[in-house]
Amino acid sequence: MSAELIKGSEISKQIKEELKVEIANLKEKHNIIPGLATVLVGDNEASKVYVGAKEKACKELGIYSERIDLPGNTSETELLSLIDKLNNNPKIHGILVQLPLPKGINETNVLYAIDPSKDVDGFHPVNVGKMMLGEPCFLPCTPNGILELLRRTNTETNGADVVVVGRSNIVGKPIANMLVQKKGGNATVTICHTGTKDLASHTRRADILIVAVGKPKAITGDMVKEGVVVIDVGVNRLESGLCGDVDFDSVKEKAKAITPVPGGVGPMTIVMLMKNTVQSAKMHGGII
Ligand code: GUN
Repeated sequence: MSAELIKGSEISKQIKEELKVEIANLKEKHNIIPGLATVLVGDNEASKVYVGAKEKACKELGIYSERIDLPGNTSETELLSLIDKLNNNPKIHGILVQLPLPKGINETNVLYAIDPSKDVDGFHPVNVGKMMLGEPCFLPCTPNGILELLRRTNTETNGADVVVVGRSNIVGKPIANMLVQKKGGNATVTICHTGTKDLASHTRRADILIVAVGKPKAITGDMVKEGVVVIDVGVNRLESGLCGDVDFDSVKEKAKAITPVPGGVGPMTIVMLMKNTVQSAKMHGGII
C-alpha cells in the first residue's frame, strides 16, 4: 500500500477562498477590516520565516497586518507595554507573539498579558480553560488545523484510537484535549511522551497517529499498523532539506493517508490563524 497524501497546501487554499468571501462581506456590509499584529522578538531564523508567512497570508486575504520586529535584547517590560498598546488598539483584533521568546523574557507573563478576546493563538489560560471545558473560544491554530484536515478528508474520529506523540502546550496537549471532547472528536486518546515506557506498543495501536516531538524521523514504518492515518507536525531542517518527525518513506508504505512535510500541517496553522482573526473582528464588531 502507498498512502494517500493529505495535502494541507491544497485544503488551506480552499479555506482561504472561503475566508476571502467572508472578509469582503465584512468590509462591504459592516465596514470592518480584520486586523492582526504579529510580534517577533530577536532573530530566530525559523520564526522569521513563520512570521513572514503569516504577514503574506494577511495581504493575500485582505486582512490589515501590523508587524512589529523587536531586537533580541528587548526587556519584558517593553514587550508588556507594547502588548498593552495593542490590546487597546481598535484596528487590531488579533495579537500574535511568535514563540519561542529570547531567554530573559518570561513567556507566561507575556501570554497572560494578551487580552483573551484578541488571543488568536489560543494560548491565554482563559482560552485554554474554555477549550478544556468544551466552551466556545479561540482554539490554538496548529491543533485546530489538524482537526480541519481530519474533517475535510472525512477521517472518522468518533471512537477512533488516536495516539498523540508529544505533550507540548502548543500541539500535543491541546490536540489530545480537542479530540477527546464529545463534540467534534469523541476519540479514545493516548498521549505519549519522553516518559513513555514502550512507545511502539502505543503507536502500533493507533487508527490516527499525530506526531509533534521535534525529532527527525522519530516514527518509523515498524512502529505503525496498516491503514493508519498519520499527521506529521514536525518541521526539521536537515542538510538534505526539510523533514518531519515521521520517516515518510517507510511509514507511507503502511499508512492509509499521511501529511507530507512541507505542505501538510504547516499551511493549515497559518490559515486557522487567519480564521481566528476574522472571528475576532466579528466579535469585536458585535456581529456574533
Ligand atoms: N511557535 C511555533 N508555533 C507557534 C504558534 O502557533 N504561535 C506562536 N505564536 N508561536 C509559535
